[in-house]
Amino acid sequence: MTVRIHPSILSADFVNFEREFETISASDSIHVDVMDGHFVPNLTFGLPMVKRMQQITTVPLDVHLMISNPDDFAQAYADTGAASVTFHAEATADMVALAKKIRSSGAKAGVAVKPNTRLDEVLENLSEFDLVLVMTVEPGFGGQRLIDSCLDKVQEARSEIDRTGLSVLLQVDGGIDASNIGRVASHGADTFVAGSGVFSAADRNAQISILRDAARAGAM
Ligand code: DX5
Ligand code: ZN
Repeated sequence: MTVRIHPSILSADFVNFEREFETISASDSIHVDVMDGHFVPNLTFGLPMVKRMQQITTVPLDVHLMISNPDDFAQAYADTGAASVTFHAEATADMVALAKKIRSSGAKAGVAVKPNTRLDEVLENLSEFDLVLVMTVEPGFGGQRLIDSCLDKVQEARSEIDRTGLSVLLQVDGGIDASNIGRVASHGADTFVAGSGVFSAADRNAQISILRDAARAGAM
């Protein structure tokens, strides 16, 4: 299984993104948390910032939309050239239609579920998605502890991805660090978001390698 590490820039210095991006150049993708102060009780940045981020890095961007109206905005994020755009299942009335829109703009379409949201509807429509994000904390803030019970859903998604043979990335986000990434990988995740788990390290690129190796070891 190919392991991917996506550092979350929620833990970065927001007025020095250019410099911060250089410290995580070994990332498979940079995870960009867009928060609207409504879907989650926190506010980050929007479309103009993401457009600008595209211009200062060659690392693909993985946009995680924690916004109440992804139907109105997700495609515009895909149009920035983002590699993937992930919206929340809880925030749209039609997850399949929205995924189709994102794909039509050339980005991977991702769907995310909060800790208390079941995966049924996502798994019933799995072929419509390129990425499933199982949140392992309540979305909104970095630096929280991983909620262990979410790993059952990771396993559930892994079983269905393997059963169908679809090439869908299985992403986890929240509380992932070197101490637990192997265990999370053993439940079937292949794409790991880590904010504080990367940015708190003195050498962030070295930390990305440490996380990647630990995930690989856990996945075996
Ligand atoms: C939280 C965000 C995460 C956050 C993870 O709602 O979606 O991407 O940055 O941060 P850590 O890895 O510190 O839990
Ligand atoms: Zn995120």
